[in-house]
Amino acid sequence: MSDLFIPVIQGTTRPKRNSIDAARYLTELGQTLEGVDTQLVDPKDFDLPLDGNNDEVKDSRYTELTAQADAFFMVIPEYNHSFPGTLKRMLDSELKNYRHKPAAMAGVSAGPWGGTRGIESLVPVLREMGMVASSVDALFPFITKAFDEEGNPTDDATRQRVEKAYTELIWLARSLQWGRENL
Ligand SMILES: Cc1cc2nc3c(=O)[nH]c(=O)nc-3n(C[C@H](O)[C@H](O)[C@H](O)COP(=O)(O)O)c2cc1C
Repeated sequence: MSDLFIPVIQGTTRPKRNSIDAARYLTELGQTLEGVDTQLVDPKDFDLPLDGNNDEVKDSRYTELTAQADAFFMVIPEYNHSFPGTLKRMLDSELKNYRHKPAAMAGVSAGPWGGTRGIESLVPVLREMGMVASSVDALFPFITKAFDEEGNPTDDATRQRVEKAYTELIWLARSLQWGRENL
């Protein structure tokens, strides 16, 4: 079996953003998993200033990346009880390349709820796009205290929770990969 390519999509571009710590951690952990190839995808590195999904408003590097992806791990800091607009732009850009692929969601918040409202508000969007939302989330409440200066989680349970989210995502990714290739 070939490796699954599971990019970690960072959902924001805010200067001094905190959620990048979670995105880096998800990427590093993903790189330790057998049969998984991953990469941190930072919206700052792509050129997507205009709305839509026509060729002239796409970034071909992002088109290529999403075409190769078997699944996505999305980092969703909660912005006003929803998901950030930057993440929506990344989704809107490439409808075909997301279809019939799964997404795991990492919620992030400054407070205690771990971005769950951001996650829940994204689920109908994923459904419309023909994606499959994993039922296992990775939540990062109190994000400013969630990682130490070396980027290690301060809560011992974080690793186990993220591994659980990856396990479900990998199962969905293999199942849908089979479906895309055989049905
Ligand atoms: C514009 C904005 C809106 C926010 N709204 C919420 C919110 O509704 N609920 C919440 O728990 N945290 C909220 N927060 C806190 C963020 O979830 C937290 O600061 C997170 O780290 C933001 O992601 P970022 O660091 O990538 O910008 C908000 C932050 C910003 C900047």
